[in-house]
Amino acid sequence: MDNPAKFYITTPIYYVNAHPHIGHTYTTVVCDAIARRQRMMGMDTYFLTGTDEHGQKIERSATAAGCTPKEFVDKIAAEYRELWERMKLSYDDFIRTTEPRHVRGVQALFTRLQERGYIYKGSYSGQYCVFDELYVDAVGPGAPCPECGRPTETVQEENYFFKLSAMEDRLLKLYAEQPDFIRPETRRNEVIAFVRSGLRDLSVSRTTFKWGIPVPGDPKHVIYVWLDALANYITAIGFGSDKEKDKKKFEHYWPADVHMIGKEIVRFHCVYWPAFLLAAELPLPKSIVAHGWLLFEESKMSKSRGNIVRSETILDTLGADTLRYFLLREIVFGSDGSFSFDALVQRFNADLANGLGNLSSRTLSMITRYFTGEVPYPTTAQERTADDRAVAELGEQTIRDFNAQFEQFQFSRALETAWGLVSAVNKYIVDNEPWTLAEKPGQDARARLGTVLYTSAEALRIVTALAHPIIPESTARIWQQLGLGEIGKVNLRELKWGQLQIGTKLGTVEAVFPRADKSTIERMQKMEQERSTVSESQSQAAETEPARTGAQAGQRATEAAGPVSPAPPSKSAEVAAGPAAPTADNKISIDDFLKVELRVGEVKVAEKVKGADKLLRMEVDIGTEVRQIVAGIAKAYDPEKLIGRKVVIVANLQPRKLRGLESQGMIVAASLGDEGLPVLAGFLEDVPVGAKLK
Ligand code: MSP
Repeated sequence: MDNPAKFYITTPIYYVNAHPHIGHTYTTVVCDAIARRQRMMGMDTYFLTGTDEHGQKIERSATAAGCTPKEFVDKIAAEYRELWERMKLSYDDFIRTTEPRHVRGVQALFTRLQERGYIYKGSYSGQYCVFDELYVDAVGPGAPCPECGRPTETVQEENYFFKLSAMEDRLLKLYAEQPDFIRPETRRNEVIAFVRSGLRDLSVSRTTFKWGIPVPGDPKHVIYVWLDALANYITAIGFGSDKEKDKKKFEHYWPADVHMIGKEIVRFHCVYWPAFLLAAELPLPKSIVAHGWLLFEESKMSKSRGNIVRSETILDTLGADTLRYFLLREIVFGSDGSFSFDALVQRFNADLANGLGNLSSRTLSMITRYFTGEVPYPTTAQERTADDRAVAELGEQTIRDFNAQFEQFQFSRALETAWGLVSAVNKYIVDNEPWTLAEKPGQDARARLGTVLYTSAEALRIVTALAHPIIPESTARIWQQLGLGEIGKVNLRELKWGQLQIGTKLGTVEAVFPRADKSTIERMQKMEQERSTVSESQSQAAETEPARTGAQAGQRATEAAGPVSPAPPSKSAEVAAGPAAPTADNKISIDDFLKVELRVGEVKVAEKVKGADKLLRMEVDIGTEVRQIVAGIAKAYDPEKLIGRKVVIVANLQPRKLRGLESQGMIVAASLGDEGLPVLAGFLEDVPVGAKLK
């Protein structure tokens, strides 16, 4: 092909206020599999990912971690890159929103919107959710964000506004004329209903913090973080640059073919982004595809819930391909799906070790043993049995079905289809007993043996080629063992049954997926625990994570909520118990003390817990997030009087449930008299929310 058609795919750019987890890996692996397959189909493919590094949330996380925003974002962005290398992600570019090329591009977009009359100055007074970086319609200080339920902050400032209200009709026309613009259908319907309910102009600048891209010519304003972030899809491929080569690149790859996102950011991508592009007179992406959430322990995996699983743990035990396969096979794309270590190991053993691994090693070792490692002749078509023909037909059918399903984003079904061939061939081998044929004398048995092994090897070749975009490393190894060289060079469009050349000399045959035993699950769970402990103590950035350290390091569950009492030394040592034991005089080291993460929080919501006269349920803003804390202070404090009060929170305790409510930390208080009457710790000076105590 002289000038192959182009294909441009993007992931969301991930916030750097927390470490990556397998939720982020999920989207990126999906895009990687699509990109790899497009390349194998001969498309001129461009795969973009990156990090979203500006905004109030990140600025606060950096302050809370005691470093500059730049130091903070550099560290987490590097973590993403490193992880993506280990996950074998074949991205073509990694954009960071702090890069000059992005800053320049965002300013160019802003200017373009101004020049076309879509931006004006006004003043905003209302609620803002820092967690979602979203202006919301909620009323009153602390009112909950309709998206995430966290208390919103009141913002009153002079802003630049984008005329979103002027875009309603054009957006509705777009959704009607391009039914594939938003996928799946359910998301499309939600977006249409949202736009139909009326759009208000959008504030696109902020003045109350600095960590962002200055508005051109008015640097006291920084550009709204979502306008900044969404623009990455064009700035990464050259928008806003004067260089000829960049301009050409932009013209070549834009518009994107697929923006892949999680379902919680549909509105930004399907309403704001096309509105900005329409106003700027730039072409629109062809489709926005939203997937569901990866759940762990029944809720969305996220750092604020403290229920994340890190990809590194799986990489270190079962490898990148196992995680990649699991994510695409186990999660029905578009729906929410659960992750568990049990399910991961089960999939690995059933599909990879016993399925593909077994097919590969038995087929290739028998060819090595019985045919000196050269792909044998199959008998002529007329002499083939119904069994042989059925496998060949299934091979052809598998290619057709796999391709159709993959193109419809039905990754799980596509893999089920491919593994249908794996099972059929494993059964075919058992039924035809090549090991018995090998023992039998005579030409007929030898010819049958050749046919059975050729058929098995050809089916193996087909599954290996189809599965390469999903499990690139192991399929590359099987391909080598099949004696076929580099798998990356395969053209998937031409894949057909019967292309395996007779006489092909096999490579060295070795097991690709050694079985995992039961201890693997425990090992992974242990690694997860250790990882969170290490990263909490070593990385400043990790301070934004809800730590599970306390309990894992020996914290008593009963201490996970309620006020901290002035503890005797032995008890303090228990809170901080880690590798370093208390000294003989019961003193703990400074390192031990530093394991306890104490932070300034502000009570946003406080209320009595039904049926528990001592307990209050509070929502406490600790700078990087809002935590629900359940504490036994109801006898001493009126909930109403606590709202707005600055308190001290132990932020790295494992969450625990009290009266069915999860308490995500502990509030620090003195404990007076025999009854232990709580008196909350506080400050005489004003202290910023999120500040660390040490
Ligand atoms: N920075 C914004 C996106 C800007 S794009 C112009 C953002 N970042 S994020 O770090 O919160 O990443 C959100 C994305 O990560 C989701 O849309 C999804 O792609 C992925 N996921 C994060 N957690 C996930 C799960 N638990 N499950 C599935 N995907 C998840 O929003």
